[in-house]
Amino acid sequence: MSEPEAFKQGLREQWDEVAARWHRWTPVMSAQYAPASELMFDLAQLRPGDRVLDIAAGDGYQSIAAARCVGTSGHVLVTDLAPEQLKYAAAAAREAGVSHIETRVMDAENLDLPDASFDAVLCQFGLMFLPDPDRGLREMLRVLKPGAWASLVIAAAGGFPESELAASIVRDRLGDATPPPERISSASLGGPGALKRRLEAAGFLAVESHEMTVPLRLPSTTDAMRYLREIHPTLDEMMAPLSADERDAVWRQVDKALASFVGPDGFESPNRVVVVAGMRPRGATRLSRLRLGRVRLCARR
Ligand SMILES: C[S@@+](CC[C@H](N)C(=O)[O-])C[C@H]1O[C@@H](n2cnc3c(N)ncnc32)[C@H](O)[C@@H]1O
Repeated sequence: MSEPEAFKQGLREQWDEVAARWHRWTPVMSAQYAPASELMFDLAQLRPGDRVLDIAAGDGYQSIAAARCVGTSGHVLVTDLAPEQLKYAAAAAREAGVSHIETRVMDAENLDLPDASFDAVLCQFGLMFLPDPDRGLREMLRVLKPGAWASLVIAAAGGFPESELAASIVRDRLGDATPPPERISSASLGGPGALKRRLEAAGFLAVESHEMTVPLRLPSTTDAMRYLREIHPTLDEMMAPLSADERDAVWRQVDKALASFVGPDGFESPNRVVVVAGMRPRGATRLSRLRLGRVRLCARR
């Protein structure tokens, strides 16, 4: 198995393993990220009847919201590398009574889909996991119909201060035993203008990029600790070389440090994300949304 394939296999196992815990936090995440998802839908110009591809969709809470935007005459293909995540997506769609959704295990770098077959491509917090994000962007461009839009959400560089604080405490404690960083970090994709330039290099037109704050709000640091431990299992994994007592000591330190995010209304961390969109060229008669003005086509959830 090639090194990138082995990396993806590892990711698939991690995301399968975390699926049940991830899904328990869906109500918090979908509320927190709703403004970013809505901007992603607006920039993708989702309309009733559209055929939409959602890439690295996880348990699909944003796919269900997209399905509501395109209505029952539309269709959302919900894809992810991790089959367990998609089981939750399919179950959530059934529970929500949304039947114009289909789930398929698929690698974002090798979309098993025909050229020019989608009216919109969405990808929320997925691109940073690809060994070759430029290849992922070229795949998005390939499956879009000419004149259709891809729209992505990623973490802004330094945009998740509570996670970064926890990771820095873990790294300090590990010292030389710290594992090497992920291949592509949100710092390299989420820096000012970085993803916009990558979309342009991949061949997208009229690319626009918006940074926004989506605060993580939880009742207390106890909840924030649970959140970090349950949906960021990499922190516990990083600490594998430590004894159970040492790990508990690190978590106590993280707990203390998180107190700096507590205000009168509980825990609040000013998370920041970047929403970027670009259009597949359609030839000489390109109509730019910038010239038409942006229209909110999707009702608020
Ligand atoms: C942070 S989650 C995002 C899930 C969802 N879009 C959301 O916003 O909550 C990242 C997802 O990317 C998926 N993923 C990682 N590498 C992938 C790849 N090469 N192709 C498709 N999905 C991938 C993981 O399985 C995981 O479900």
